[in-house]
Amino acid sequence: MVAFKKVGVVGAGMMGAEIALCCATAGMDVLMKEISQELADKGKKTIDKILSKSVEKGKLDAAEKEAILGRVTPQASNDGFEDVDIVIEAILEVIDIKQNLFKELHAVCKPDCLFASNTSSISITKLASAARPEQFIGLHFFSPASIMKLVEVIPGLMTAQETVDMSLAFCEAIGKKPVKVRNVEGFVVNRILLAMMNEAYRLLDEGVATIEDIDTACMLGLGHPVGPFRLSDNISLDLLSKVFDILNDAYGDRFKAPGIFREHLDAGRIGRKAGKGWYDY
Ligand SMILES: NC(=O)c1ccc[n+]([C@@H]2O[C@H](COP(=O)([O-])OP(=O)(O)OC[C@H]3O[C@@H](n4cnc5c(N)ncnc54)[C@H](O)[C@@H]3O)[C@@H](O)[C@H]2O)c1
Repeated sequence: MVAFKKVGVVGAGMMGAEIALCCATAGMDVLMKEISQELADKGKKTIDKILSKSVEKGKLDAAEKEAILGRVTPQASNDGFEDVDIVIEAILEVIDIKQNLFKELHAVCKPDCLFASNTSSISITKLASAARPEQFIGLHFFSPASIMKLVEVIPGLMTAQETVDMSLAFCEAIGKKPVKVRNVEGFVVNRILLAMMNEAYRLLDEGVATIEDIDTACMLGLGHPVGPFRLSDNISLDLLSKVFDILNDAYGDRFKAPGIFREHLDAGRIGRKAGKGWYDY
């Protein structure tokens, strides 16, 4: 089995920068590719900020921080991708853009390099049809990826067992706990999460309890770190609405968001990033 020494992360946004950080912290060299050098450098600054907080909290010393940062190379080209052991894609959630990237990298990367996508909603089998279907896998990280332990590992129809085994080993090598999941809409976590959120919205719609009390009930009664309304605001209702649509198409009315959700969406109360959602910020 290949030891993962060098990783190519594509996309240095919210997920990509944190995934790059996980790999560099585990001692791997990381090429972090963006559409411009400016965005790649911005991703590296994000990593710097996260590491600085760890130093302030005494979880890391300054030399360790510099060593981790030194292993991340921000870039706008494919330079060096010829010897990465795995590519993890975390770019826009648009199938054509993702497939074009994998086609381009197929011509550059060594034959045994694995291709992984962090997609939340696109079929892994469909993505894998662009290049290297036997060596293609879904690796679904959770935000913030440097803190959240879980990775859903999703083989496509043609993914080889060796790819699955190597992907599970890769997740463990970067300190994550992988769970293997079939290629279905929403995978495991988003199906459970959106079902729970929908039930919380219905409880509000029916006047059973207030927003604050439903959140408190989930936190103190279920041990959740945040309640469903606060979490919806953090994720943003516009993004949730897209995921509801995908799950609704796949599984029917049980994922149809109730009126009160759509009313909030229409009013522009989409969450923390808008300064207002279920709560005011
Ligand atoms: N945000 C989440 O909580 C979350 C959780 C799990 C999975 N995901 C998935 O991760 C992926 C990225 O999401 P995000 O929230 O980090 O998005 P983001 O918008 O923060 O970052 C995406 C980045 O990709 C870059 N990019 C676009 N096309 C590119 C290309 N061809 N080459 C290189 N870089 C390119 C963009 O410039 C941008 O910086 C999506 O597929 C999303 O569904 C997101």
